[in-house]
Amino acid sequence: MREKTVTEAHIDFSEYLDRRRLFVEQRLIGYLIATDPDILWQSMRYSVLSGGKRLRAILCLSAAEAVAEAAAVPPKENEVFETVMPCACAIEMVHASSLIHDDLPALDNDDYRRGKLANHKVFGEAVALLAGNALLLYANEVILTKTPSSVDPSVIAALVTELARACGPMGMVGGQVDDLAFTGSVDAVKSSSDNDGDLLLERIHCRKTGALIRFSLWSGAKLMGAALSELDVLEKFANTLGLAFQIADDLLDVTGDIKSLGKTPGKDVQAKKVTWVTVYGSERSRRRLKELENDGLALLDNGVFDPAATTHLKSLLQYAIHRSS
Ligand code: IPE
Ligand code: IPE
Ligand code: MG
Ligand code: MG
Ligand code: MG
Repeated sequence: MREKTVTEAHIDFSEYLDRRRLFVEQRLIGYLIATDPDILWQSMRYSVLSGGKRLRAILCLSAAEAVAEAAAVPPKENEVFETVMPCACAIEMVHASSLIHDDLPALDNDDYRRGKLANHKVFGEAVALLAGNALLLYANEVILTKTPSSVDPSVIAALVTELARACGPMGMVGGQVDDLAFTGSVDAVKSSSDNDGDLLLERIHCRKTGALIRFSLWSGAKLMGAALSELDVLEKFANTLGLAFQIADDLLDVTGDIKSLGKTPGKDVQAKKVTWVTVYGSERSRRRLKELENDGLALLDNGVFDPAATTHLKSLLQYAIHRSS
């Protein structure tokens, strides 16, 4: 068979993304139809159903698909979706919760998110705070009650445990606290040794952003019964993608505009955030991204997966790095 041209491959990938986004959106709407207390559900829906790339949900589906393809009798796409979708949607709820809290005046004090007013600008800080909490807890309820009964209960218990770990003090919340603790310390980090600066940035980024991305890939694979060797490769790939994703976000803060980003650019410099770009500058951040792209692609080609099974994971890494929103 003739190889696809770059343009054909690109069209394939954007169709791949669109189709998965559509499934995720539809399922999220279905999970968020409750109305009591009305203002709380409105606030939850406002943030979860406001677009976004759905990258984490798609990473979860894509990891599941990569593992499924290696099975002796690969399951149908629909079976994979049915098995993974509750977890993929739960991840988007946790992510939306982190964005609501991240935008609060006590954290980044941002007025816009996904091209709309931030949750607290519409619903007030109290409801925004509570909607964020509710989404975190509801995400677990969705995994526990909506994952098909064909999935082994020990796998579901592992999902909930790992999600708690990814969000909690060792994960996202811990990373957010570090992010705040080092806000204003750009000069101090710049004058530390390169190694110390790298370690600090990696520690913040891996926790605040990497932990949920790691869970996204791990959970999709786990739900499909991945072997330890597959989980191991995906974990290394996730660490690379997670770091690359946040460096790309740091770069977009200086190169992006409000229209494409849907959030106010220039905030990291203004707030003196310790980011790859504020500490090392754009050029070095781009070089680091290139290294991470090469490393991530090589990781998937180490013989554990059939190369055809990881095409979309590779494209997702490139998308996370080269995106404009
Ligand atoms: C933004 O995440 C917050 C970070 C972790 C940098 P995304 O860029 O994935 O946000 P959405 O979901 O597409 O809006
Ligand atoms: C946010 O990082 C990370 C989480 C929400 C956990 P940022 O503060 O850089 O994200 P943006 O730039 O506001 O989207
Ligand atoms: Mg932040
Ligand atoms: Mg922020
Ligand atoms: Mg940012």
